[in-house]
Amino acid sequence: MTNTRHTQSMLPPDSFRGQTIVVTGGGTGLGRSMSQYLLTLGAKVAICGRRLEVVERAAQEMAETTGGEALALKCDVRQSEEVEAMFSAVSEQFGRVHGLINNAAGNFICPTERLSYNAFNAVVDIVLKGTYNCTLAIGKRWIDAGTPGAILNISTTYAWTGSGYVVPSAVAKAGALIMVRSLASEWGKYGIRLNAIAPGSFPTEGAWSRLKPPELEDGGNLSQKVPLGRFGEHQELANLAAYLLSDFSAYITGACVTIDGGAWLRGAGQFNALERVDSEQWDALQAAMKPPKK
Ligand code: HXC
Ligand code: NAP
Repeated sequence: MTNTRHTQSMLPPDSFRGQTIVVTGGGTGLGRSMSQYLLTLGAKVAICGRRLEVVERAAQEMAETTGGEALALKCDVRQSEEVEAMFSAVSEQFGRVHGLINNAAGNFICPTERLSYNAFNAVVDIVLKGTYNCTLAIGKRWIDAGTPGAILNISTTYAWTGSGYVVPSAVAKAGALIMVRSLASEWGKYGIRLNAIAPGSFPTEGAWSRLKPPELEDGGNLSQKVPLGRFGEHQELANLAAYLLSDFSAYITGACVTIDGGAWLRGAGQFNALERVDSEQWDALQAAMKPPKK
């Protein structure tokens, strides 16, 4: 494939000039890629995570490469007091917050009957509780101040299909997606928009080490899993995220945009496994099954 437009910046360079965006889990993986892109678009970006050294290093590197202002904060999104303190610190440093990306997540593959109660809680508390902690903290501030804002959740396609072996994550992502849709309706009157993105497979160290261990690799038979035959590129996800947070999407709220190369539909369609049938096999099948022309 020669088309590389999807790996380029989509929005005009100053799209976020004068705006401050908070990205949870912004020190690694997709959170870092989205943060980096928002910085190139002129935003001030605050990133948080549980490991201060990780967010501090990321913020420093991103500030150096983009010339933008990045603030690193230690915050466990499961703890509402830490979340409140994080937003207060961002406001002190940067002033008003304009947008939030609920990106922080925890996940691992495990047969559900092997999960301890604590294992279930660990994931649900990060993904669902962390998301509503951050959403409530910033939503209340916006409503009190009478200012608009935009929230973006990073979801998954199994938020609506469900999936075995990642049940805590599926339950939590589904709950967080319903919160987006519920609040899109309830908070529209305050000028607060909430949307979600459901990514397919985008290589990151965090996801790959926990969900796709080398022992389970099946030779990356992508064409059978992903109709478009490849993994996602971070920039194309960052383009979509920036668009949904920006004023360019001012009339979009309560949406969940899937960016997965068609992967979830391939898994869902009852006859999609026929992809494996080659042309000669189709000749033989049709010779046997197709009725003769009348
Ligand atoms: C079974 C496990 C486990 C595993 C941990 N636990 N890993 N159980 N299988 N692989 C259990 C532990 O034994 C413990 O239970 C409980 O979970 C909590 O574990 P801790 O290590 O104490 O928790 P904590 O330090 O809070 O870490 C949270 C975590 C960890 C979720 C377990 O993986 C993490 O920090 N993840 C953050 C980053 C991440 O997950 N990135 C991937 C996002 S990718 P007991 O009972 O022993 O105390 C993603 C992609 C979705 O979401 C879609 C892909 C297509
Ligand atoms: P990642 O690099 O592991 O990102 C997870 C981030 O969340 C880390 O920076 C982690 O930092 C932070 N985090 C975890 N628990 C936290 C907590 N309690 N408080 C604050 N921060 C916390 O994985 P990723 O692949 O980039 O995932 C990013 C998002 O994309 C997630 O929402 C994930 O579900 C979603 N997603 C990814 C894929 C994919 O293919 N990669 C597909 C679908 C959806 P600390 O450990 O320092 O806290």
